[in-house]
Amino acid sequence: MKILAIESSCDETAAAILEKKDNSISVLSSVISSSVQLHALTGGIIPEQAAREQIKLILPVISTTLSEAGMTTSSNPQERLQQTHLAISNNIDAFAVTYGPGLIGSLLIGVETAKTLAFVFGKPLVPTNHLLAHIYANFIRQDISEIPFPFIGLIVSGGHTDLLKFESFSEYKWLGGTRDDAAGEAFDKIGRLMNLPYPAGPVIEQKAREVNSSQFKFSKPLLHSDDFDFSFSGLKTEVSRFIKNHPQLTEQEVNEVCYAVQDSITDVLVSKTLKAAEQFGAQSIVVGGGVSNNKALRQRFENEINKQNLNIPFFFPEPKYTTDNAAMIGAAALLDYKPVLWQDIKSNPELYFV
Ligand code: KG4
Ligand code: ZN
Repeated sequence: MKILAIESSCDETAAAILEKKDNSISVLSSVISSSVQLHALTGGIIPEQAAREQIKLILPVISTTLSEAGMTTSSNPQERLQQTHLAISNNIDAFAVTYGPGLIGSLLIGVETAKTLAFVFGKPLVPTNHLLAHIYANFIRQDISEIPFPFIGLIVSGGHTDLLKFESFSEYKWLGGTRDDAAGEAFDKIGRLMNLPYPAGPVIEQKAREVNSSQFKFSKPLLHSDDFDFSFSGLKTEVSRFIKNHPQLTEQEVNEVCYAVQDSITDVLVSKTLKAAEQFGAQSIVVGGGVSNNKALRQRFENEINKQNLNIPFFFPEPKYTTDNAAMIGAAALLDYKPVLWQDIKSNPELYFV
């Protein structure tokens, strides 16, 4: 089965074509156009601006993904349009789209485009939860049975930090999540305090890599709490106070602050995930979301699993499928294939786990 997937929940406009054959999911093409440079100018996303960019980009992105999959070849606009119609009619079996959570203006662009495609071509449409898709990005692989159930899923993105237990692709239970800022949000807000460019997660990682340790130490919120909740806003306040008290940090000291911030965030994420895995007898751990791009987080999982002698495999998506993309949306739709009529899908900015 071949699916054309669309993602437009925030500031990325993305489309991808995936194929599922038996136990294998492969990406035939994945195109992402981001308005992040625009948002870097203001240090964060302005929803109205993100939506305006989405509407400009959505059709060119879909057209490019069809050509990158080799389904259209002509550069002549008229011929290309004909090829596009034939390609979708003959080669695409279904559409998938993120219907939440996200920014309403941005979500609407993807959802209405997907509905129009389903309506015009008379093909099935699968509404997809963006958060679950971050986890299912791990199943873009030759053999999806390599990741055993039940597993603990850790979602770490710009807007969310959640721990779930998955029994199957359609049965999962939410164990806990952040009470305030998400992990990615903490990286971004702390970066802003330090005048680092947005999004600050990758920049903090890069600066932390310049040093092997830090003379500074920040708290590790809720590290030992007996639930599966997280809280990162106190860490942000602590760093803010620290920066006010140390206005003249050298480059070396900035790198060490980044190291200490990353250390606090990754320690809490890994400790709580391993605790959940042990408590629920998980057969594997699956991580996803923008922060799963962080190599120190991967390394910490490996070190802690070895140190604690836990015999549990852990999985991260391929780096290009960690931050927002449409391939993960296609994967989610293929794994939990529940098409609806185009009339029955509605954007849901507050969508959580249903
Ligand atoms: O999943 P994502 O692309 O968008 C949301 O659904 O929110 O995540 C974006 C978040 C941003 O907060 C960004 O700073 C963070 O992921 N991020 C990272 C890294 N790469 C992206 N955080 C830490 N280290 C990274 N390498
Ligand atoms: Zn995301």
